[in-house]
Amino acid sequence: MTQPLIAPSLLAADFANLQRDLEMINRSEADYLHFDVMDGVFVPNISFGFPLLDAVRRHCQKPLDVHLMITDPDRYIDAFAKGGASIIHVHYEACTHLHRTLSRIRELGCRAGVALNPHTPITGLVDVLEQIDVILIMSVNPGFGGQSFIPHTIQKIAGLKQLLVANQCSALIEVDGGVSQANANTLLSVGTDILVAGNSVFGAANPTEAIHELKNSRQSMVA
Ligand code: DX5
Ligand code: ZN
Repeated sequence: MTQPLIAPSLLAADFANLQRDLEMINRSEADYLHFDVMDGVFVPNISFGFPLLDAVRRHCQKPLDVHLMITDPDRYIDAFAKGGASIIHVHYEACTHLHRTLSRIRELGCRAGVALNPHTPITGLVDVLEQIDVILIMSVNPGFGGQSFIPHTIQKIAGLKQLLVANQCSALIEVDGGVSQANANTLLSVGTDILVAGNSVFGAANPTEAIHELKNSRQSMVA
């Protein structure tokens, strides 16, 4: 039984104790650190950018999964690649020339990710599947941590999995927003590969154990 990849979201960390939280991540079973960039235009919130990326990269031993919730991401993808990103996600809704943007991310040596807002249909991806390494399905409206999971996401991921299989596409499916130990198994059962988790990790009494539980949340179908 393959285990999911786990990407704790830095947005929910305690920034006054960042080194402590990064050391926890380093020692944990996390596979990535999810890094949410918000510009106050694409989403109604501002988070963090390059100075924090630089600090995090120096202390974090896990690959960085960078989620750009920004308009015109083409202006910044070179800098995020240079800053140490492993995966760079741009939003489908923010890209006029998505094929070009994804190709550029790969040229920079990163894995190319596309994020879809809850209202964005998966069918818009069919003509760029060859350029995509990871599809990030938003299960909340992006902009804030700690929101409730949108249940329709389950059907959306199931449909996306079918689309990928039908097109013999090996892109991974990542889900972001309201992910917890309570819905992880369902998300994995419909085809999710990577779980992003903010509050369900950093808000837990024992974050290391919370990551361990997410990592081992795939339950056998056989009773
Ligand atoms: C929301 C961000 C998420 C957020 C998830 O816009 O993209 O990555 O940090 O936080 P939780 O898991 O608390 O919903
Ligand atoms: Zn995110």
